[in-house]
Amino acid sequence: MLFFFSRFLIYSGMDKSAGFDSVADYYDVLAGLIFGKAIILSQTIFLGFIPENSRILVLGGGSGWWLPELLQRKPNCSVVFIDPSARMLDLAKRNVKNDARVSFVCGTENSIIEKSAYDVVITFFFLDMFSGPELNVLLRKLIITLKPDGIGLVTDFVDTKWWHKIFLSTMYIFFRMVSGLGNQKLVDWSVSLKDAGALEVADRYFYGDFIKSAVFKFRPSGVA
Ligand SMILES: C[S@@+](CC[C@H](N)C(=O)[O-])C[C@H]1O[C@@H](n2cnc3c(N)ncnc32)[C@H](O)[C@@H]1O
Repeated sequence: MLFFFSRFLIYSGMDKSAGFDSVADYYDVLAGLIFGKAIILSQTIFLGFIPENSRILVLGGGSGWWLPELLQRKPNCSVVFIDPSARMLDLAKRNVKNDARVSFVCGTENSIIEKSAYDVVITFFFLDMFSGPELNVLLRKLIITLKPDGIGLVTDFVDTKWWHKIFLSTMYIFFRMVSGLGNQKLVDWSVSLKDAGALEVADRYFYGDFIKSAVFKFRPSGVA
């Protein structure tokens, strides 16, 4: 009885606390089945932009399947990995075999309290969960927590073709049902980033231009 009630709460989108725990175990497999190699390429393509010895903040990192590659390519980096899903964090810890270079925080963007603390912030398929006003607040937080000349690696969906809209609507309905995701509309995050003063220094598109990866410089030297 309790089981059916909890399912009802999740499927009706009322149980916001359930979050991504319920999908964590099959999230990566599902993403791989739908998007194939694009999901891997889009999240690893710009790791080379990360300066050596960086302090890196990862927000909404999920299972962090790409962390081992990052740690191998940038051995002197340290990572703070924030995600509110305990199950996702368990998977990420297992993926890095409890590597001491990675600190895990079960939390959200509200757990970020440090100023000018990070060289790099990474968000992969994270910004799409925020409405326009929420995204503006989030970006302000990220800018404050980054060091001057800090960079952002962003990978997320874009909405430029008719079929992108169909994919997006389906995904938003799915994630509303299984994780209680509130936002149901993709914000043009590139524009929000630029409005927040970020400068796009590299970009690549994948999967019929449905996925965009970009590198942003948040406070270019010499710009107030
Ligand atoms: C769509 S998944 C993407 C996971 C991973 N980045 C990937 O691409 O495979 C979004 C992730 O963000 C986490 N999340 C949801 N709300 C969050 C928040 N406010 N702050 C940080 N992470 C959040 C979820 O638990 C989930 O792991």
